[in-house]
Amino acid sequence: MPTALLVHAHSESDSFVTAMRDRIAQTLAGQGYAITHSDLYAMNFNPVLSPADFGQRSTPDHLVYALEQRHNFESGTLAADIVTEIEKIRAADLIVLTFPLFWFSVPAILKGWFDRVFISGTFYGGKTIYGRGGMAGKKACAAFSLGGREDMFGERGIHGPLVHGMMRHLFQGTLGYIGADVIEPFVAHNVPYQPLEVRSRCLDELAEYFSDLDNHPRIPIPDLDKFGPRFEPL
Ligand SMILES: Cc1cc2nc3c(=O)[nH]c(=O)nc-3n(C[C@H](O)[C@H](O)[C@H](O)COP(=O)(O)O)c2cc1C
Repeated sequence: MPTALLVHAHSESDSFVTAMRDRIAQTLAGQGYAITHSDLYAMNFNPVLSPADFGQRSTPDHLVYALEQRHNFESGTLAADIVTEIEKIRAADLIVLTFPLFWFSVPAILKGWFDRVFISGTFYGGKTIYGRGGMAGKKACAAFSLGGREDMFGERGIHGPLVHGMMRHLFQGTLGYIGADVIEPFVAHNVPYQPLEVRSRCLDELAEYFSDLDNHPRIPIPDLDKFGPRFEPL
């Protein structure tokens, strides 16, 4: 049975984003997925990467986060809350992020989950990025809501392209960078200004989207075969 890890970043149980998360869980369970959760606010997840994450220091005088992430994970001294999240990811075939767009980005609690959980060595390294990253063989997708209208985005929109521009840092720079097969996200525009029936229709479209997930386009990720040993273009 495939497993889907739902990583959720909204504090309110009656919010639209939480309704999206619940509908995704229901839809994927109907597709035969076992569902696991990282409900970041409910867990009171600490999003601030700091030296307190490391029980040991390989370089006591000068802290290099990436180095200590590797060293502490290998020696079993990485903070327990991080290890728990890494194990959940390892057990999952699909990771789904649900969040409201904050400042052209993800909420801080989710950004901090990436910072602390996607550790060097396990998820990425000098040469092990993109197709060779630690999430190779796993799928990732997101469903997010935002205040802006759809016509504010795209090549001619005031804010420019959303998924391939504003949010490229997430889809290519984070999920793609660590090797996931990144599926185009589901986007719910203009949510705070929509009446209940429009929101309800949007949840139906979301369910339809997740019932056919494998057939959606992928986010283009650089092909490492087109780059040399120092990532120079061939
Ligand atoms: C701190 C903060 C930053 C936000 N930044 C953006 C933004 O950059 N673009 C946008 O379209 N909406 C932005 N919004 C609006 C939220 O994305 C929107 O209210 C949310 O998606 C609604 O979902 P909810 O009803 O489940 O909370 C922001 C809201 C907050 C509170």
